[in-house]
Amino acid sequence: MTKELNVAMIGYGFMGKAHSNAYKQVANFFPELEHRPKLKCLSARNAEKAGAFAETWGYESVETDWRKVIERDDIDLIDICSPNDSHLEIAIAAAKAGKWVACEKPLAMNVAEAEAMTAAVEEAGVPNMVWFNYRRVPAISLAHQVMEEGRIGRPYHYRATYLQDWTIAEDVPQGGAALWRLDADVAGSGVTGDLLAHSIDTAMWLNGPITRVVADTETFVKERIHQDSGEMQPVGIDDACMFLARFANGSMGTFESTRYARGRKNFNTFEMNGADGSVKFDLEDPQYLDFFEYTQKESGKKVADHLTGWRKVHVTNSEHPYMDKWWVPGCTVGYEHTFIHALADFLAGVEKGEPVQPDFRSALQTQRVCDAVLASAKSGAWVETGVSL
Ligand SMILES: NC(=O)c1ccc[n+]([C@@H]2O[C@H](COP(=O)([O-])OP(=O)(O)OC[C@H]3O[C@@H](n4cnc5c(N)ncnc54)[C@H](O)[C@@H]3O)[C@@H](O)[C@H]2O)c1
Repeated sequence: MTKELNVAMIGYGFMGKAHSNAYKQVANFFPELEHRPKLKCLSARNAEKAGAFAETWGYESVETDWRKVIERDDIDLIDICSPNDSHLEIAIAAAKAGKWVACEKPLAMNVAEAEAMTAAVEEAGVPNMVWFNYRRVPAISLAHQVMEEGRIGRPYHYRATYLQDWTIAEDVPQGGAALWRLDADVAGSGVTGDLLAHSIDTAMWLNGPITRVVADTETFVKERIHQDSGEMQPVGIDDACMFLARFANGSMGTFESTRYARGRKNFNTFEMNGADGSVKFDLEDPQYLDFFEYTQKESGKKVADHLTGWRKVHVTNSEHPYMDKWWVPGCTVGYEHTFIHALADFLAGVEKGEPVQPDFRSALQTQRVCDAVLASAKSGAWVETGVSL
């Protein structure tokens, strides 16, 4: 038996598009799901642009005020794809109205907001999730499986980078449509909330809680014209951030993110080194997970001969995470599929009564690390994150 799930999307930008695609495709590739998402309503402030997007993607209706959407009885799920400063109000109102809430990352502008949002969804008892979609890259899910199986043994090191280059030019304005990420009042922070939040979510999923951090940030371009006012204004975001981390399991972490790495577009990587092996992932080569085996898990035998080396696993076989849903071995999937996988897991979690991760509570832990990183960058001291997973 299938049932319709009426979806209202807030925002029609980058993520509005990625999520709309996921709602349209999920039932075709995950037909075992009971829920059949229906694109019921698109909400954004500009009626003309919202109308055009709604027509392209097949939304039934358009609302320019998200509050009206939440009041509607014919909406089951609110999907928040608007800039970070709007997440708090929309999520709390949606939860109070008894809607399911799916929210883009970072969950909030800061920990206080994330706590209020988590309390709201938990008090209302509504299904909730945060779109940390990189967990759903098949190769990253395979890395999680490798960790669950204990294949790298005692973990010693975790190393993450998330590098881009799109804000190097000093005449890139800040604020307003498409450039709100450079405006601290709307984004909350720069690369820490935007990029490192992804790296932190992945790291804690794979390697457990980050307990303390010490960080340094830099704002290379100090003033930019604000798109809305047309005036030169100070830049309040971190253009670059690097931090050291200690994990609860005793391993050490390094994290680096910038939007000033010339030539890097979405260079999201991690490597983990343990006593018995290592894994490495690079989003610019996303079909592969690199694995180095020193101790064979099954036999306990040391792998040390003339052919010892890194193994490059092409993650496209049906025994790999999610890949039995797609094509024949060797045929790849891409960025948009990570959102389809996240949505499928969310729906399956609700149907089985096993809430999906990451939910709001899990994203709150990532927010705690982000806030601790920014606090440390100000004080120069190690800061406890207070994370418990
Ligand atoms: N999971 C990911 O990898 C990923 C990638 C990009 C963005 N994001 C997150 O998704 C969210 C949106 O980012 P984006 O890149 O899609 O932004 P965007 O600028 O492309 O689109 C934002 C949309 O929100 C609308 N909007 C702005 N304020 C609004 C309001 N008050 N009410 C209703 N609509 C409003 C805009 O008109 C626009 O349609 C952010 O929280 C961002 O951090 C996540």
